[in-house]
Amino acid sequence: MTNTLFYTITDPARQTEELETAAALLRSGEVVAMPTETVYGLAANAFDPAAVKKIFVAKGRPQDNPLIVHISREEQLYELASEVPEAALRLFRRFSPGPLTVILKKTDAVPDEVSAGLPTVAIRWPSHPVARALIEAAGVPLAAPSANLSGFPSPTNAEDVADDMTGRVACILDGGPCGFGIESTVVTLATPVPRLLRPGVVTVEDLEAVLGHVDVDEAVLAPLSAGKTAASPGMKYKHYAPKAALTIVKGALADFLLYARRHPEAYDYALCFEEDLPFVPLPAVTMGKRADPLTQTARLFDALRELDRAGAQNVLVTQPEPTGVGLGVCNRLYRAAGFRFAGPEQRGRVLGLCGPTGAGKSVADAALAAAGCRIVDTDKLAREVVEKGSPLLPRLQAAFGDDIVLPDGTLDRKKLAARAFASPEGGRTLSAITHPAILRRTLDEALDAIAAGVDAVIDAPLLYSAGLDAVCDRVVKLTAPEETRLARIMARDGLDRAAAEARMAAQAEEMRLSDAADVILENDGDAETLQKCVRNAFDIP
Ligand code: TXA
Ligand code: MG
Repeated sequence: MTNTLFYTITDPARQTEELETAAALLRSGEVVAMPTETVYGLAANAFDPAAVKKIFVAKGRPQDNPLIVHISREEQLYELASEVPEAALRLFRRFSPGPLTVILKKTDAVPDEVSAGLPTVAIRWPSHPVARALIEAAGVPLAAPSANLSGFPSPTNAEDVADDMTGRVACILDGGPCGFGIESTVVTLATPVPRLLRPGVVTVEDLEAVLGHVDVDEAVLAPLSAGKTAASPGMKYKHYAPKAALTIVKGALADFLLYARRHPEAYDYALCFEEDLPFVPLPAVTMGKRADPLTQTARLFDALRELDRAGAQNVLVTQPEPTGVGLGVCNRLYRAAGFRFAGPEQRGRVLGLCGPTGAGKSVADAALAAAGCRIVDTDKLAREVVEKGSPLLPRLQAAFGDDIVLPDGTLDRKKLAARAFASPEGGRTLSAITHPAILRRTLDEALDAIAAGVDAVIDAPLLYSAGLDAVCDRVVKLTAPEETRLARIMARDGLDRAAAEARMAAQAEEMRLSDAADVILENDGDAETLQKCVRNAFDIP
């Protein structure tokens, strides 16, 4: 057991004494855990073989896995690399300091303990201010793998480092949570064609903008085939593993939900995106937002550790998009799951139809129903969830007054609307009571249809506000010129102009959100044209 110092560094420019203590430990051959912008690292003097050996002991890591060497200035490249090609300089000048590691031919100064006997060295210039200050203070490049015990998720905050490393290293520097949350992109320039060995926040597209074509190693998204040697030795280990068993359902959220429904007893937790939460029928831990891969990288390893803390045993996982930054997320997640996949199974599609009142959704529905789709009408479901005898009625009475339910037990919709929409607060209360039930019914009907191989059309004027876009395979927004819509609403519902305008104004937020639809159709022709366009937009013959 080593006595481990723990320093919180909030201002590296002023806390030079703590940094100097850590640097002195490094110079004397000790191991120091440091924050970087990707994950925490376990650092040692890269030129000191005995110090580097201590990293392997602390991690419990096999000795044939080489380490990344961290620098803080361009000159240090020449101490480590025997050749620094033009392409390497272009990469470092474009992406460093930052989350990129470049593999080059090594100098004799790099000991075998760092390169694991390979003729190459992995070099990275991190951007985290504490890492930069520590490398500068130490005055030597620092070899540093991620600061986890071998086989466990990389730590993205100092508490997780302390959990794994207290008593095993001389010092832990706490520099707050890591911004990116997954390890750096690793690209080798020691092959004839540049090759991506580990995907990260610097994407293939980013690299290709500087290098031209980049090969992607097959081990990035697949287990290493038997008998093959890994281009990056780290890829042959089961990495990033939580204690829980993860199963990734291939495909979209609809595939996940269908699979979860067919296996109700097999899983005790879900790992999903924030957008998925309202629909997932299991206790869930989130890994960021479906629409924003950088929130996924930031959350992924924390989420895996959170599942372990929650005691999860069998976790069902939604699949991230394996492109751009998402390629890095999939690479870590697939390994964490030991490449255990389920699905996708045969199913119909979930189609979303949204757009403001008066745009012609019911005309479109009729065409889609005639073409064999099952229409899931959320307006109709909204009425059904408050039918006579519904358990929601007493809750509505408690919020809006007993007299909103008539003596015959039915809801007085006019009175409820008048009370609920008198204030924004009232509208929110009404939604909080009714929306979960409407969403559940909508989802059940859609899943029933697609399980039977039929396309479900979710007709929802507030599709995006309700978050239903997350379950749709394709969304079409139907709109119409404002004057046309006004005229239709006034004629259909017998409203005067002011009342029709007020109804349209209430949909302004949804109008903005629904611009994200896959197809936007402007309905300014006749019914027949509309029906043909809608079928086209959904690829229905
Ligand atoms: O973001 C990061 O890169 C973090 C922080 C601490 O900087 N470090 C990190 O190190 O992830 P580590 O040791 O956990 O991962 C290093 C990866 C491994 O997959 C290893 O096999 C590969 O880089 N690697 C290192 N040197 C190599 C070399 N000469 N040739 C091929 N792969 C190499
Ligand atoms: Mg690692």
